[in-house]
Amino acid sequence: MNVVVGITGGIAAYKAVGVVRALVLAGHDVHVVPTEGALRFVGRPTLEAISRNPVHTDLYEGVSEVRHVAIGQAADLIVIAPATANSIAKLATGLADDLLGNTVLASEAPLVIAPAMHTEMWRHPATQANIDTLLARGVTVVGPAVGQLTGADSGPGRMEEPEAIVRAALAVVGETDAPSGTGAGVARSHDLAGRRIVVSAGGTREPLDPVRFLGNRSSGKQGVAIAEAARARGASVTLVAANLEIAEPTGCAVRQVSTALELRDAIREAAVGADVVVMAAAVADYRPAAVSEAKLKKTPGDAGLTLELVRNPDILAELGHAPHDGTVLVGFAAETEPDDVRLVELGREKRAAKGADLIVVNRVGWHEGFAGDDNRATVVGEDGAVVTELHGTKVSVAHGILDVVVSVLTDRSSTEREPTAGRPARTTDEESDPR
Ligand code: PMT
Repeated sequence: MNVVVGITGGIAAYKAVGVVRALVLAGHDVHVVPTEGALRFVGRPTLEAISRNPVHTDLYEGVSEVRHVAIGQAADLIVIAPATANSIAKLATGLADDLLGNTVLASEAPLVIAPAMHTEMWRHPATQANIDTLLARGVTVVGPAVGQLTGADSGPGRMEEPEAIVRAALAVVGETDAPSGTGAGVARSHDLAGRRIVVSAGGTREPLDPVRFLGNRSSGKQGVAIAEAARARGASVTLVAANLEIAEPTGCAVRQVSTALELRDAIREAAVGADVVVMAAAVADYRPAAVSEAKLKKTPGDAGLTLELVRNPDILAELGHAPHDGTVLVGFAAETEPDDVRLVELGREKRAAKGADLIVVNRVGWHEGFAGDDNRATVVGEDGAVVTELHGTKVSVAHGILDVVVSVLTDRSSTEREPTAGRPARTTDEESDPR
């Protein structure tokens, strides 16, 4: 297969050498088209040696052979890695002021891009709008991953690993299976366009007094990743955000809440008419029976303090035990169970107890689940069977979960379960007794 690898001018250009190499080793004829900027990060001799083909950048070289058209027309697949914010903007508007831009416009081959940039640039509404444009046009977007960026900062924006990009790109042309399960090489399409998705993220805080609360270590990363992934796949997203430790995602309607009761109100309101509700928030099962108006004080000689707690409503179970035919309910199960088999078993029990359609089981602990950039999860489906196992960045896990949601939505539409399908999730006022 004739593969064009476009490289644009970002620090991740050095990793593009790995993309070229993997494609060559897989037996493909690889033609590298770097921008001038890319050549400031990686040298032409390296690219020629690894690709085993001459490397051109200049639009005005080889004019007699109409090189930009020739390269574009001969391509069976074009992969641009890294794709900078600038190059994504140019692709979205169809700018052709260099050989790569001309090659893309002159080609009918599938286009796969692997964005790489700082988190702020990735989250900027202009970049997100450009990504939406490209997705709507059928371009496959791989990543970006979450992790350490060029400086000391870390977050979404890091280029996916070369193997993951190659695997996702080859899957687009049917050369390999679509990447799944590993959490790497997430290729996105607009498969949630027209859907309305509600996601909860973060950890609730239950006040004891004006200065203290009972809380948990959820940062909101997993829930925000799901919200961002759903939005990138075309959904209209409402994020119910409980005390996030990270920036709010762009392009989503955000409802800020703090306590479980506030989260419950926001979810119940947002869930009406939603296609999907994903409960990724870590919700307190108990709250202090009374909240002191003044700061609680030590009393001389006391040996300790006993708090009386009362149960919070179980929001997911309320939704799950009310009719919700048209709304796919996705719960999480956060468990410290060390045994893998028992862990999934606990997830199954939780799914049944709460009446969720899908449950995402993840192990949590001092160093797992909470706060980090990566996660490992098992999705259990309606019949209690394991649908998929995911591991990787929270962004890639989010896409893996949404892949399952999309297939449930697709199955539901094809089995013509209307008129119930599409009905809003309704809630009851009773508190059920899930675990
Ligand atoms: O935010 P991060 O730092 O990225 O961490 C991610 C995470 C570990 C918090 C996330 O992946 C996760 O597991 N979220 C669910 C945490 C949780 O509350 O799990 P649980 O097993 O206690 O609850 C099961 C389900 O019921 C969850 O979907 C929860 O949102 C929901 N629930 C729980 C209690 C309650 N009163 N009402 C609820 O709706």
